[in-house]
Amino acid sequence: MRKLGITGLMLAVAIVFFWNFIALPAPRDWSAEQLELIRSLSIEQLPPLPSDTSNRVADIEASAELGQQLYFDTRLSGNRAVACATCHKPELMFTDALELAVGTGIGLRNTPSLVGIAYSPWYYWDGRKDSQWAQALAPLETSHEHASDRLQIVRLLNSDTGYQRRYAEVFGDLPAIPVSPISASPLGSNEQQEAWNSLEQTQQQAISWAFANVGKALAAYQRKLMPGSTRFDAYTEALTQSDEVVANAMLTPSEIAGLRLFIGEAQCISCHNGPLLTNHEFHNTGVLSIADQLPSMGRYDGIRIARNDPFNCLGEFSDAIPSACVELRFARDDNSLVGAQKTPTLRNISMTAPYMHGGQLATLADVLEHYNEAPLSMLSHNEAKPLALRPVQLRQLEAFLRTLTAPLATEEKWLLPPAN
Ligand code: HEC
Ligand code: HEC
Repeated sequence: MRKLGITGLMLAVAIVFFWNFIALPAPRDWSAEQLELIRSLSIEQLPPLPSDTSNRVADIEASAELGQQLYFDTRLSGNRAVACATCHKPELMFTDALELAVGTGIGLRNTPSLVGIAYSPWYYWDGRKDSQWAQALAPLETSHEHASDRLQIVRLLNSDTGYQRRYAEVFGDLPAIPVSPISASPLGSNEQQEAWNSLEQTQQQAISWAFANVGKALAAYQRKLMPGSTRFDAYTEALTQSDEVVANAMLTPSEIAGLRLFIGEAQCISCHNGPLLTNHEFHNTGVLSIADQLPSMGRYDGIRIARNDPFNCLGEFSDAIPSACVELRFARDDNSLVGAQKTPTLRNISMTAPYMHGGQLATLADVLEHYNEAPLSMLSHNEAKPLALRPVQLRQLEAFLRTLTAPLATEEKWLLPPAN
């Protein structure tokens, strides 16, 4: 009797023990294939920053310091009130919480995050710029962003001894510029263009070179903005070490269920993949056009603009040898790119609402609702298929997306305006 009692007790303990194991959403639920997919998203997989041969000062510290000063300087704008940091705010993961950006006027697009942006081979939602330095020049001369121009910017640098010194350290002396005209650019208003045409060609060249260098310093600064390790990354790390206890302390069952959907049934990983959760490609996801605008042609127009840009990798202001401009020379170009936008990173996504190229979707719940229905695209076709997920599954996906946020892996000093 006594013997049987003890056996019974042991059996009961064993049953309870194993039942717990079965009931828990333990990491051992992942197949080898799933584990590989999960690991491919981890920040551990982030390679070192690719070099940018079109920008020979991309990784020079003094260049990044000059770029930081330019980044936060409102004097680079027509009304002296707008800086890059006005729209790309460090405290909001370098976004602005607006549907459409506001500079000297209201813009046409939603402000994307700049964290990890140096990994991107193309810039802007439609990829109309092929380098980070060429991108940085555009807002300076756009009438609703900084509304300045290259002559005024080079004049500002010339008038400030700090800038003179810093610029000389990286690029050599600033070019001398004429007292008049005040404002001139080959882009912009008729007056600005006329003023530009009145300059000698050698002056035009020297000004455009100094302007391109401003972009190169701004790019060097932005290369510092790197994503940090999130709760999701800690979970992946624990899975790799086969440490179930730590793994399950990192993510809740609901977050793990969301991850399962993300890499499986919901197929998010087909576009949002790799450690930045983007394939850096362009896709049509059927997002409604922006109010009062025609539907965006997206990448279809973007690649054409990039090819014709005098500041592109093959242009005279680039430091690259032409054979190094592989992205530009071999870019895909076909009708499937009509209405396609660049896949954004999902790192820090909980902090960068509203979403999509026009800020059309206010919350993550709205984004997931959109993918669940996958409406017809206004131009061409929506590449994402309807998901028909249940409300609880959408909440799980959202819970997972919220695990992808963490403070930047960037020294604090780069996140503030420089001291002097
Ligand atoms: C008025 C607000 C505003 C200002 C000022 C501004 N930006 Fe932007 N930025 C935007 C918007 C909006 C976009 C997306 C535009 C588009 O895709 O057509 C963008 C896009 C970018 C991108 C491309 C991101 C990507 O995902 O491809 C980079 C890089 C960038 N800005 C850096 C800068 C720098 C550097 C400055 C200062 C010289 C600057 N921005 C000034 C609003 C602004
Ligand atoms: C066919 C490729 C593709 C698939 C599949 C896909 N996405 Fe996207 N995602 C994109 C593109 C492209 C955009 C930008 C679209 C735009 O702005 O018009 C985007 C935008 C987003 C945004 C907004 C990002 C921002 O900064 O504004 C979120 C969040 C998002 N996707 C999450 C998901 C989730 C979750 C899934 C799975 C349910 C998913 N995506 C499936 C390509 C895709």
